[in-house]
Amino acid sequence: MEAPVSAPTLFSEGYIGPVRLRNRIVMAPVNTNFGDEQGFPTAKAVRFVRERAAGGAGALILEAMQVDRRSKIVAREMGLYEDRFIPALTGLTEAIHAEGAKAFVQLNHGGPKASYRLNGARCVSASAIPVKSGEDNVPRPLEKGEIAEIVGLHAEAAYRAQQAGFDGVELEACHFYLLSAFLSGHLNHRTDEYGGSVENRCRTVTEIIQAIGERCDGRPSLGGGTAGGSKFPVIVRFNSVESPPLDGGITAEEGREMALCFERAGAAAVHASAAVHPVNPDIERDFVVKVAGGPSAEAPEGCFVPFAAGIKARGIHIPVITVGKIFDPVMADSVIRDGQADFVALARGLIADPQWPNKAKARDFSSITQCIECRWCHTSMQGGGDIECLVNPNLS
Ligand SMILES: Cc1cc2nc3c(=O)[nH]c(=O)nc-3n(C[C@H](O)[C@H](O)[C@H](O)COP(=O)(O)O)c2cc1C
Ligand code: SF4
Repeated sequence: MEAPVSAPTLFSEGYIGPVRLRNRIVMAPVNTNFGDEQGFPTAKAVRFVRERAAGGAGALILEAMQVDRRSKIVAREMGLYEDRFIPALTGLTEAIHAEGAKAFVQLNHGGPKASYRLNGARCVSASAIPVKSGEDNVPRPLEKGEIAEIVGLHAEAAYRAQQAGFDGVELEACHFYLLSAFLSGHLNHRTDEYGGSVENRCRTVTEIIQAIGERCDGRPSLGGGTAGGSKFPVIVRFNSVESPPLDGGITAEEGREMALCFERAGAAAVHASAAVHPVNPDIERDFVVKVAGGPSAEAPEGCFVPFAAGIKARGIHIPVITVGKIFDPVMADSVIRDGQADFVALARGLIADPQWPNKAKARDFSSITQCIECRWCHTSMQGGGDIECLVNPNLS
């Protein structure tokens, strides 16, 4: 008689494409402002990632990095838009691999959230609908030729990431940056093949997934990553739901359809973030801008887990990563055991305590330094300074 297959746990190994992770815990991308003025990672950036890899996470998805020199979102965002960044980025992947974790990096185009002040140019988007107040923030809709150019910029950035030893990349198609603006009916009013139906709104993302495959699959990683020679995995992070008050925002059903669309295009995993305001349906623009800092204190723990579970229930075959107020290891374990998601991603939990995974594994729950949800990490970083944490003075 065959032994029953036991359900995976938080500490079961797992795969994203061909990449093996030692457990189901992933560090969610976190802009740190630990780049320098030119976009190179500093020693602080290396230390930040090494500490989180040493803390036991299975993989780190490094913060949003620029694919286009004109699309900066924070003052000291790191760059992936030229080859000159590759050697310095290799320092990050080596530090992560030395601690036994896998390294992914998030590819970002700021789109309607790119800063006029930082870029000296008007931002661009799917349509001329602003997500930030102020005349400078009304985006210029992209022409079709420019979309093709942006697809190419993502593929080249992914190739540089591969050269720097990353095991894969994540597309930042969430939180109302450029790719997210294409996905969202709230921000995408196009009438060409990049707007309208779910499939059309997904087209920019699916073209990028395919372009990365053409550029990176089967190529060895020069920096020591482990994905070389086979498929280079692409994770798509997207708003699986954009709740009211967002007129025309992504519905839960559309979010599930989008996940399947990314799977068909060749994505290795989907990362189900969301843009859901738990309390105040009256604030719109403000909410659209602030959603990137994580769900607010009023939201329940694991508030986005149901959206990941909904995607899984639709019969997707690739892994689904959930995120959003995963602070309790017992709850995180039950999310994996119950099959609601395949991986849990933690942002603030690992800012506050990089040893969260090791402590959870040792069942030393009481020694975990808990995030108090003050949002100072996001505020400090958005203000142009280094990221800071009120409960973790060792951050920088
Ligand atoms: C300081 C800070 C920086 C962030 N930077 C990014 C980023 O670069 N890319 C991204 O997709 N999300 C970013 N986020 C959102 C997180 O990845 C995550 O989705 C959110 O914080 C919810 O997870 P949590 O409740 O575990 O913090 C950031 C969040 C914080 C607090
Ligand atoms: S305690 Fe505050 S500053 Fe630290 S991670 Fe949590 S929200 Fe961010």
